[in-house]
Amino acid sequence: MRLAFTDRGAGPVVVLLHGFPLSRAMWDRQVEALSANYRVIAPDLRGHGESPAPDGAYTMESMADDVVDLLDGLGIEDPVVLGGLSMGGYVSLALTLKNPARVRGLMLLDTKAEADSTEAAEGREKSAKAVLEAGNPGSVVEAMVPKLFAEATIKKNPALVESFRTLMNKTPAAGVAGALRGMAVRPEQTGRLGEIKIPTLVIVGEHDAITPPDGARRMADALPAGKIEVIPGAGHLAPCENPEAVNAAILKFLSGLG
Ligand code: MLT
Repeated sequence: MRLAFTDRGAGPVVVLLHGFPLSRAMWDRQVEALSANYRVIAPDLRGHGESPAPDGAYTMESMADDVVDLLDGLGIEDPVVLGGLSMGGYVSLALTLKNPARVRGLMLLDTKAEADSTEAAEGREKSAKAVLEAGNPGSVVEAMVPKLFAEATIKKNPALVESFRTLMNKTPAAGVAGALRGMAVRPEQTGRLGEIKIPTLVIVGEHDAITPPDGARRMADALPAGKIEVIPGAGHLAPCENPEAVNAAILKFLSGLG
């Protein structure tokens, strides 16, 4: 699978994986801020943005393999710093656990290590069917929009909310269904967090309703070298809602890695 991607800046490589059903565009503010000192690579995961959207379930492992193929294709063999938001975080965990030698620092933003409950997985299957039947992602997008942002963002920055609604509506139905079905079968990774010995920064919006701060704290505690930053005034899309605070946390983490 050939992924579309952004590749900007020079220096140590930082790879950023977007959430569902978004695209690499969600990292625009991070690409801008980090590329002064780092080489930032942000792919569109399969089914999203400008990458191909095959039929079938996109397991987190298959999406992680796409990212490793991309790095191989770019000749990047040295370990990278890997960051992912929500679904991108699930993919980042899968990639790190499968290929520990490829990652020297990990950033888990607004995400979790737990698998879906049976109920949640069934809900995803229903949503996948609805989206495929409609031929567009509208029903999933409308269900997600109110949960993605902090209330303050919805009030103060309706243009940001609208731009994300537009972005999500561009995701093809096959891509949305594939990601939903893949997330529904992702394995429980909580018991494996202890295997991740590299420095890991957990970032969470203080008002994240999808992956709330309590869970993020538990995940950071279970990581041998885990730290947490709670982002004020932000919900699930912390890097987009409060990019200044997220960029500052990321830059501090990166400079600590050397
Ligand atoms: C995301 O933001 O990527 C999704 O909310 C993840 C999920 O549905 O579990």
